[in-house]
Order: sequence, then C-alpha cells, then structure tokens
Amino acid sequence: MNKSNDTNVKKIGLLTSGGDAPGMNAAIRSTTLYALHHGIKVIGFEHGYNGLINNEWIKLDEPKVRDIITRGGTILKSARCEEFKTPEGMQKAARNLKQLDIDALIVIGGDGSFSGMVKFKQFYHGQLIGIPGTIDNDIDGTDHTIGFATAVDTAVNAIDKIRDTADAFERIFVVEVMGRKSGFLALNVGVACAAEHIITFENFSNPGIELQHIAAKIKRIKEHRGKCSHLIVSAENLYPGGANQLASDLGDYAAIECIPCILGYIQRGGDPVAKDRILATHMGAHAIEQLLLGKTDIMIGIEGQFCREVALTESIEHHKGVNEHLLAIQESLQDLH
Ligand code: ADP
Ligand code: F6P
Repeated sequence: MNKSNDTNVKKIGLLTSGGDAPGMNAAIRSTTLYALHHGIKVIGFEHGYNGLINNEWIKLDEPKVRDIITRGGTILKSARCEEFKTPEGMQKAARNLKQLDIDALIVIGGDGSFSGMVKFKQFYHGQLIGIPGTIDNDIDGTDHTIGFATAVDTAVNAIDKIRDTADAFERIFVVEVMGRKSGFLALNVGVACAAEHIITFENFSNPGIELQHIAAKIKRIKEHRGKCSHLIVSAENLYPGGANQLASDLGDYAAIECIPCILGYIQRGGDPVAKDRILATHMGAHAIEQLLLGKTDIMIGIEGQFCREVALTESIEHHKGVNEHLLAIQESLQDLH
C-alpha cells in the first residue's frame, strides 16, 4: 500500500554518471520502488548528465526495475559529459528539470559526478542527493561505495587464477588493478590474494626506490622458499608507464623476469555480490527518506550498519585513505623466519 506523502516532493529524476559500478541497478531499483511506495513519480535520465541536457529520459516503474537487482552495469546507461561542466550546459539541464516538474535529482556516481552536483546547485533549486557508486571506494563519509565489494571479488577471482599458473611455472607477475587515484582496490585485493607485494599511493615513493625494494624482496623470498611464484599487486596510475614498464624495468635493473598483467575493465562488470546489492538497496531507500525530510546537497554514506548523511562538498575532499595498518600487517606477513 502506498504511503501518503505530504511533502513537496511529487516527482524525482534519477541518473547514473561516471564509471559504472556493479550494484548501480540495485540502487535504481530500490530508489524507484521506495519512491513509488511514498507516492512519488520517478523518471530516469539516460547517459549520465547528457540525459539532463538532451532531455533523454524514461519513466521508471515497477516492471522496469523488477528484475535488475542481479545485473551489473546500469539500465540508465552511464557516460561522461563535458557540456555539463559549462554554465550553458548546466542552465540547459536546470531548464529541462524545471519543465518536467522535477522536485529533486538523485545522482548515483563517483566523486566527479558529485563535483558536478555541487556546482549544479547554483542553477537548479530542487533537492539534490548523491548515492556513491564507484568501484574505487574513494568517497569520503562512507565506509564503502556501491560496486567496491564486487570489484574486489572479481579481481581476487582473476588473480587466484594467475596464481595457479604462476605457481606452476614459478613465475613472477605484476598485476595492475583499477582505482584511478586511490589504493583501496590494490590493498584489499592484494591482502585477499596473499600478494607478496602491494603498491599503493600510501607506500610508493619513487620508481627507483620501488625497484630496489621489489628486487630485494624477490631475492629474499627466493633464498628462503626456493624458486616460487611471486605476485605484485599494483594500483594503476602510480608507477610511471604502469605494470608494463615496471616489469620491463625489473628486467633491466635486476635481470628479474616479470610478467605484466593489466586486469582492466573486467573489474567494472559482473553481477553485484550480495554485499553491494544490500548496500545499494539500503542507500536508495535512505535517499528517499532524506528527500521526504526536506534534506538537500547531501550524499548518503554507510557507517557500520547504518546509513548516514554527509554534505556533498565533504564527500569529495579525498581525506579517506587506505588502512595503513593493514598494509603494514601484510608487509609483516612477508617476514620469513
Ligand atoms: P565519476 O563520477 O565516476 O568520478 P567522472 O569524474 O568522469 O566520473 O565524472 C562524471 C561526470 O561528472 C563528468 O563527465 C562531468 O559530466 C561531471 N563532472 C565531473 N567533474 C565536474 C565538475 N568539476 N564540474 C561539473 N561537472 C563535473
Ligand atoms: O572510477 C572508476 C574507474 O573505473 C577507475 O577505476 C578507472 O581509473 C576509471 O574509472 C576508468 O575510466 P574510463 O571508463 O573513462 O576509462
């Protein structure tokens, strides 16, 4: 039974923007169904902010979202949108929202999408709420972002397979994982795969020191265990030239034969794991509850088992770093006795 809604929120817009993340569909489903439950109409803009500017949208109803909780990607499609970074683009978007009588806009995306929302506030006077959807987990004010848990599992499953063949041939691999400018994926994946070495933004100083460190570690582990597999997990955008260059430099510097492997977009796809489905369901409904309370300019985060609200401006400050203690523990586990 629908609950009556005596606030001013009668119709909302929803969109997914930036890098897609498994669980975005689960968030679309929960936001839509919880809004409908409160008597609010929902339309979904397609292709990120492009949909706002070009007036591309679909009506979201129960049949549209019924079967999507299991699916990766996003039924609303995602995209980058340069025009939205201009005042003219934002004006067009705000005009379209006004013409469609949209009282509030919910954006499921990453820090870039939220930066866009912060600026859009000058042009659009409805309520604005962000839901963090990115595999990178690089958003402040939330323990986790939608898609992170799935991406970690996907990378771990892939690297476990690499470990099998590395073991069989006693080879050394460097595996590059995504994360743009953050090491959450690298650390968590590295720990779960028992990587001999993890390179993240927190422990990387410069390429020369990194090469020395890796070469010494490979030598030490080899002296102790004999010839064996060795896995290095590295965050992208860190070692200049990435995994390919690091592997080549190890050859030049210490005659170490190392195979580079860039996991790439496999990490963005796939069915969301249960943790992401639950997180997305919780956050989507919480976003509607906050709209009904009249809140705006906030992002929905999770802390422990409860959703919380964070100012959008705070969510993009990039103060959240990886757990350096866990990184130190992982390093200690490589001590050989
Ligand atoms: P993500 O949201 O995954 O971090 P991006 O950084 O690519 O992805 O941002 C997604 C979109 O958000 C951009 O294509 C652009 O439309 C919008 N956006 C990002 N930064 C800004 C900004 N500073 N001003 C306005 N819009 C922005
Ligand atoms: O932000 C998510 C992410 O997948 C990053 O991990 C990665 O660096 C980036 O997006 C890739 O973006 P694009 O889809 O533009 O290649």
